[in-house]
Amino acid sequence: MSAPADTSVYSKDNPFPAKVTENRLLSKPGSGKETRHFVVNLAGSGLHYKAGDSLGVFPVNRPEDVVEILHRLGATGEESVMLPRTTAPVPFRDALTSKLALAGPTRKIVETLASKATHADEKAKLAGLLTPESKEVLTAFLDEREFADLLEEFPSARLTAQELVDHMRRLMPRLYSIASSPKVFPSEIHLTVAIVRYRTNNRDRLGVCSSFLSDRVQVGTTPTPVFVSHSHFGPPADGGKDCIMVGPGTGIAPFRAFVQDRAAAGASGRNWVFFGDQKKATDFLYEEDWLEHQAKGQVARLDLAWSRDQLHKIYVQDRMRENAAELWAWINGGAYFYVCGDAKRMAKDVDTALHEIVAEQGGLTHEQAIDYVKQLKKDKRYQRDVY
Ligand SMILES: Cc1cc2nc3c(=O)[nH]c(=O)nc-3n(C[C@H](O)[C@H](O)[C@H](O)COP(=O)(O)OP(=O)(O)OC[C@H]3O[C@@H](n4cnc5c(N)ncnc54)[C@H](O)[C@@H]3O)c2cc1C
Ligand SMILES: NC(=O)c1ccc[n+]([C@@H]2O[C@H](COP(=O)([O-])OP(=O)(O)OC[C@H]3O[C@@H](n4cnc5c(N)ncnc54)[C@H](OP(=O)(O)O)[C@@H]3O)[C@@H](O)[C@H]2O)c1
Repeated sequence: MSAPADTSVYSKDNPFPAKVTENRLLSKPGSGKETRHFVVNLAGSGLHYKAGDSLGVFPVNRPEDVVEILHRLGATGEESVMLPRTTAPVPFRDALTSKLALAGPTRKIVETLASKATHADEKAKLAGLLTPESKEVLTAFLDEREFADLLEEFPSARLTAQELVDHMRRLMPRLYSIASSPKVFPSEIHLTVAIVRYRTNNRDRLGVCSSFLSDRVQVGTTPTPVFVSHSHFGPPADGGKDCIMVGPGTGIAPFRAFVQDRAAAGASGRNWVFFGDQKKATDFLYEEDWLEHQAKGQVARLDLAWSRDQLHKIYVQDRMRENAAELWAWINGGAYFYVCGDAKRMAKDVDTALHEIVAEQGGLTHEQAIDYVKQLKKDKRYQRDVY
């Protein structure tokens, strides 16, 4: 279903300074994860969205991280620096705050540090990292570090503000699958965000954008630059079609939107949701919504896979296999099949399970099953939004 024509002056190049009006923990105390529900108010923006679209968010870096870099360089922040592909200088502090990624150093800065270091121990360590035999060591070393770590470890190199900037990449907006339907929430957008927190090189790290939303955006006050990223991913235009939605973890976000959307439109097609996460007691995201949809008959089937409630892992694809005959009946009867969430492992494994189910239940050879799934994709009946 297409969204109303976008008449907004706001876009990726001119993001809307939205207010976040809600920041609520979805995972419960004791969870191994921190997954949050955000509400972003679009009132006055002229922006439109549809179920299946994503919201782009431009984050700012953590002030403590900016201050640390200034301190390690002996800079004030007032220095003028030039960013790549720009013509006007900007103050160094502004560049570090909202224009540059403070993570992701590459070999190039190790080379620069090696050429500038004056302390013998630092020079030796840098030279050791740059030998042809140390390629893997260097990759592991860089994976564990952000720019501030390198400035701390190699202080004698004394980079200038511009020299550091020349090694940094632009801070990019992050996309989040929209977890609400415009039919129910025309002037706000809901997001389901896993907050990235981990530890490397003996330092606590934060994902830039997820921690910006959770820790630095003040509800109701901080202007948060956003844009709508329109997608081909979306529920079938024909509400009579059945939908199978596989969305473990934050992958559930767009399917909350799909089901809201189809319920609001009075779509007659059935909805089958596969959700999974670590533990039922703490990670059943939007439990009340799902149980209500189920009670109202808006979700015909809800199959849940808790990976850490027992010794062996149970994943969404295991639930698919357990229900292979019915899944095949839905697919062969014209259902749409959707997957959202982790691209590296989950989406591949779900794809394998789908092929197996099509082959076994459809009585097809491996090659025929591949062709069948290819056709599903061509017909837009197999869609993925994975990251
Ligand atoms: C179309 C699309 C839709 C998306 N939808 C959602 C969504 O609905 N919800 C959602 O939460 N996310 C979603 N994402 C992912 C989201 O865009 C961000 O990538 C995510 O929030 C992380 O961004 P960040 O800025 O917080 O972390 P970053 O600062 O980008 O840090 C992430 C990086 O940290 C490193 N890292 C993370 N964990 C560890 C670890 N344990 N050990 C070592 N290194 C680690 C990895 O290098 C990783 O790439 C979506 C992405 C796309 C492309
Ligand atoms: N770097 C990575 O490899 C990686 C992988 C996944 C997610 N992430 C990131 O972690 C954050 C949180 O992710 P999320 O909340 O969306 O969920 P998630 O961490 O992907 O986990 C959701 C559920 O999927 C399970 N799972 C793990 N591997 C699976 C597989 N191969 N097939 C099916 N299910 C599988 C998890 O189980 P268990 O955890 O108990 O195994 C968990 O129960 C996101 O930012 C995401 O991008 C990173």
